Amino acid sequence: MKTSSAPLELGIDRTLELPVYLQICQRFKTAIAQGHLRAGQRVPAVRALAVELSLARGTVEAAYRILADEGYLQVRGAAGTVVSPSLPPPAAPRKRNDRPATPGPLQRDHDEAGPRPLQLGLPALDAFPRKVWNRLVAHRLRGHEQRMLAYPEPAGYRPLREHIATYLGLSRGVSCVPEQVFVTAGYRATLELTLRSLAAPDDAIWFEDPGYLLAQRFLRNAGVRLVPVPVDQHGMIVEEGVRRSPDARFALLTPSHQSPLGVTLSLERRLALLAWAGKAGSWIVEDDYDSEFRYQGRPLPALKSLDRDDRVIYCGTFSKVMFPGLRLSYVVAPAGAVGRFQSVCESLNAGCPYLFQASVADFIAQGHFSRHLKRMRLLYGERHALFVRTLREVLGRRVGVELQAGGLRVLAKLAAGTDDGMIAERARTAGLGIHALSRWYLDAPPQPGLLLGFANVADADTAKRLALVLKKAIDG
Ligand SMILES: Cc1ncc(COP(=O)(O)O)c(C=O)c1O
Repeated sequence: MKTSSAPLELGIDRTLELPVYLQICQRFKTAIAQGHLRAGQRVPAVRALAVELSLARGTVEAAYRILADEGYLQVRGAAGTVVSPSLPPPAAPRKRNDRPATPGPLQRDHDEAGPRPLQLGLPALDAFPRKVWNRLVAHRLRGHEQRMLAYPEPAGYRPLREHIATYLGLSRGVSCVPEQVFVTAGYRATLELTLRSLAAPDDAIWFEDPGYLLAQRFLRNAGVRLVPVPVDQHGMIVEEGVRRSPDARFALLTPSHQSPLGVTLSLERRLALLAWAGKAGSWIVEDDYDSEFRYQGRPLPALKSLDRDDRVIYCGTFSKVMFPGLRLSYVVAPAGAVGRFQSVCESLNAGCPYLFQASVADFIAQGHFSRHLKRMRLLYGERHALFVRTLREVLGRRVGVELQAGGLRVLAKLAAGTDDGMIAERARTAGLGIHALSRWYLDAPPQPGLLLGFANVADADTAKRLALVLKKAIDG
């Protein structure tokens, strides 16, 4: 394809799951980001591009429409279509280790075509018992309970709060009463409720380095001060947190399965963390997002189960154990802070749809939840082993992949000095939903690696096909 300056490579791959019009969108976005297409530059007419790529005109039109809607292109009628003149110039290439103080624009992991292969954070969408679920939701819908149509209770549907409290007691060693359980619309809503209940502006918060990208972004926007605390093979280095910020108001971490490295916080550090919080009067936010899935040994009890001083705020979600489209999660408030959570909840939280909360309560009460968990533990164990084996076979020494003790993603480590950002970008351009590990670091020297969600890799052919795409992305 010819433009008025540098040529734009538009290799369309019909074997990819990503529809062709979205591939075109991605190629344009990458070309703009990399400076191959500049603000104000004219792009080919729809008809010309369609002819050049042997595509239907409608396909190119659909891509241009999306790019115009998202602000990348500007349609000027008879004067043609140009790259939006208001777009900022592309950033100069960064030196290694020279990371921005605030993360760049959020990578989108999904688009109109649905989730991408290897997308992080997804459970096995093909294995969710949809028939059962549909039946439960339909049953609730057909019922005549007016409550289903009315405003929901901001703290959550009472029977669901009871089920969550029971489940946590039995499965996670967390003893709490239903009044401590607040149902929220996802982890960021949990953080919002927690901060509004307990934080003051500019409070310091220990944060794992590297640590969960979305939480990083959320907290930066929330106006708290992030104190990066490095992570090693035993989890967050608690003594380093104490050294860097002894009076921090919060420590936020993923003790069971560190995000993104996958390590577990050692017992020694759990006790040190609790001792610090007890002494400093600080709060520990325990993000227990996927601890249900362990393939080696038994699931570890939650940190909250050791909390004698009532310092731990326990956060869980239905996103992994059911499906993330539900947007249902929960937080267990410390007993001494229930009043504050309740009053913030009443003024801030519009509540989550009763229909789904009630259907989840039914799903648990009728035994489907525990059956599903049991099946998924087995399934993920198999898919995890298959994916790791295939990566080793196809990628050989290009990556170091270890079997993880649990969770829904694999970390493929790359040799020191490798530009994982570039590899991830190439893989994303090829349609995958993967992340570069280095982008999840705040302050510690970034290690290169690729974060790969394996839960939806259902068979050996798919595993091989995806591993080959990764190989191509690594080899450039
Ligand atoms: C580290 C971490 N915490 C929490 C969550 C849960 O987020 P949500 O409940 O909004 O789906 C996720 C989901 O991927 C996660 O990776």
